[in-house]
Amino acid sequence: MVRANDSLLGLPGGYLFAEVARRVRRYTSSHAARKVISLGIGDVTHPLVPAVVAAMHKAAEDMSRADTFHGYGPAGGYAFLREAICSHDYAARGMDIAPDEIFVSAGAKEDVSQFQSLFDRNCTVAVADPVYPVYVEANAMAGRAGLWNGSQWDRIVYLPCTAANGFMPEPPSVHVDLIYLCCPNNPTGTAMSRDALKEWVDYAHRTGAIILYDSAYEAFISDPAIPHSIFEIDGAREVAAEFRSFSKTAGFTGVRCAYTVVPRELSVTDENGNPFPLNQLWKRHQDACFNGCSYPAQRAAEAAYSASGSLQLRGVINGYLANAAMILDAFRSMGYTAVGGVNAPYVWVETPNKMPSWDFFDLMLDKTGVVCTPGAGFGLCGEGFIRLTAFGTHDETKEALARLAEL
Ligand code: MLT
Repeated sequence: MVRANDSLLGLPGGYLFAEVARRVRRYTSSHAARKVISLGIGDVTHPLVPAVVAAMHKAAEDMSRADTFHGYGPAGGYAFLREAICSHDYAARGMDIAPDEIFVSAGAKEDVSQFQSLFDRNCTVAVADPVYPVYVEANAMAGRAGLWNGSQWDRIVYLPCTAANGFMPEPPSVHVDLIYLCCPNNPTGTAMSRDALKEWVDYAHRTGAIILYDSAYEAFISDPAIPHSIFEIDGAREVAAEFRSFSKTAGFTGVRCAYTVVPRELSVTDENGNPFPLNQLWKRHQDACFNGCSYPAQRAAEAAYSASGSLQLRGVINGYLANAAMILDAFRSMGYTAVGGVNAPYVWVETPNKMPSWDFFDLMLDKTGVVCTPGAGFGLCGEGFIRLTAFGTHDETKEALARLAEL
């Protein structure tokens, strides 16, 4: 018999959203008449906007004719999309990012879980607690997380995000090599100020660490003081890579298109201390492991930047932000302590009387048919919290809140 990857076997329990789905299935099997409303997984509900759909139709036409057909594309993405990204997401905000620093992919989850393979197995990793589980589990599968002690991995450095620090991770006192930061944050919905982010960039310069910056939710920032990209901070090009996605900003969770920015200045070393640009290593990795995001998906993503596309998408995002404001208000007026929801599509709510997250999840589902995500699934500091997503429809979100008010 072939031996399995011990590190994969060592992962505890099921993946968070798989466990949520399992409990929802169990509930629906005995409550067939009750309509379940999901404010759980952050999956979009608004259909693709017309400008994006038109671009997909056009791309399908291209694929139907021999002279405009596209087979394998470049692993790093077509130039038309990489140039649109540079110009709209970076140059328009005063940042100088070149097309060959952009790597288009099929998803930020895919990139953020694969990127760790560029680093030595002994590198130490820091994550916020609570944290998007993918960062931790990808490193655990690679054998970098150490042993699971029943609630945490012993080689991962957890950065507690609690009410005391405004749910913002603070630089650790021990040395770490890799730091995952997610801003605006999943799951707490909070966002770092420019000063807080600068502190992280300075920290990385001082200690030689690399920041893996997940800004999948940047389109939801409504406070002009919050940076949209880590590259708005001086010095970030030498210490950070950034992950972005069209999933939440253009409704692409089912289309799949995202990108990673790896600046030319960002380097690692071999065992003798010789530097290697990470940009070249990620290119090497993607050339070997990825055949590119589909042509129709990339044309659709390009259309998200057109004048009509960006206007239509602004409307969709504002709709989700209105849901977030409604969720935040509703929970606060019911007497709960809640944060987030202003610069992010997530609201982070403290359970009443420190009720364990999964108990509150079960209670909410059982009494109201509304699904949340238990904070404990994101880490120890998430215990006693739940996360609500604003990605539902307006009507369902309203109905969910009305049911919760009765609870
Ligand atoms: C979430 O609910 O945290 C996200 O939908 C998961 C993801 O983006 O992979």
